[in-house]
Amino acid sequence: MPGDATRVTTRTLSEMKRGGRRIVALTAYDALFGRLVDEGGVDIILVGDSVNTVLCGQSTTLSATLEQMIYHTRIVRAGVERALLVIDLPFLTYQVSVEDAKRNAGRALQVTGAEAVKLEGGAPIVPTVHALVEIGIPVMGHLGFTPQSVHALGGARVQGREAGAAERLVRDAHALADAGVFALVLELVPAPLAERVTAEVPIPTIGIGSGPGCDGQVLVLHDMLGLNERFKPKFLKRYANLADEVRAAVRAFADDVREGHYPDAEHSFRA
Ligand code: KIV
Repeated sequence: MPGDATRVTTRTLSEMKRGGRRIVALTAYDALFGRLVDEGGVDIILVGDSVNTVLCGQSTTLSATLEQMIYHTRIVRAGVERALLVIDLPFLTYQVSVEDAKRNAGRALQVTGAEAVKLEGGAPIVPTVHALVEIGIPVMGHLGFTPQSVHALGGARVQGREAGAAERLVRDAHALADAGVFALVLELVPAPLAERVTAEVPIPTIGIGSGPGCDGQVLVLHDMLGLNERFKPKFLKRYANLADEVRAAVRAFADDVREGHYPDAEHSFRA
């Protein structure tokens, strides 16, 4: 809620679910946007490994590294005061062994000041989630389309359309909740299935491309601002067209410089 200065914690989010208050989440990758998003009043700021595609121009999130995520999260931290700050653990930093996951997740929180980590996947990572939660690391889950498995899933496709896959997703959601995740991202899940999971699990669900029945919604900031204009999935609503504004401002500056209108007296020092 904009204007509510109270810091958001994992406890706040579970109270929001119980009270039927919707949770708002966005990504941020730097201090400037972190501050703007925080001042806009979101509840969760995610430093997503989508930074690797959105800002770094890579085709998938797979090549994101822990150092890269730590770098971006530290600078986002500098701008965020109210929202809960979550860092995405990148591919291969938690799947190889529970020991690796503990070390990497612990370091991620220790050196960035983030308050929680996010991991992708269901049953195979449940023991890892349990181990992290046991040592005091808050974990957010992520089911449905999980971008770190993009090759195994055959692209960014809606998940859980067939009955078997839907039942597996529901089982995974329960298993993650039982293992202690404090919230669960549902990405590209049919709306009725996301609604069912939301009704069944005690933790907040945060949807992206999963319809209106989740406890909250998350979008990638650069997508909803119209900065990442080549990305046009059906679920995305653009709240601004900043790419057009950036191009127009650059053209205006270039024209001013070329025509000798900038800098003028107002923007120059006399002595
Ligand atoms: O990496 C990311 O930005 C994400 C969100 C899309 C949920 O995981």
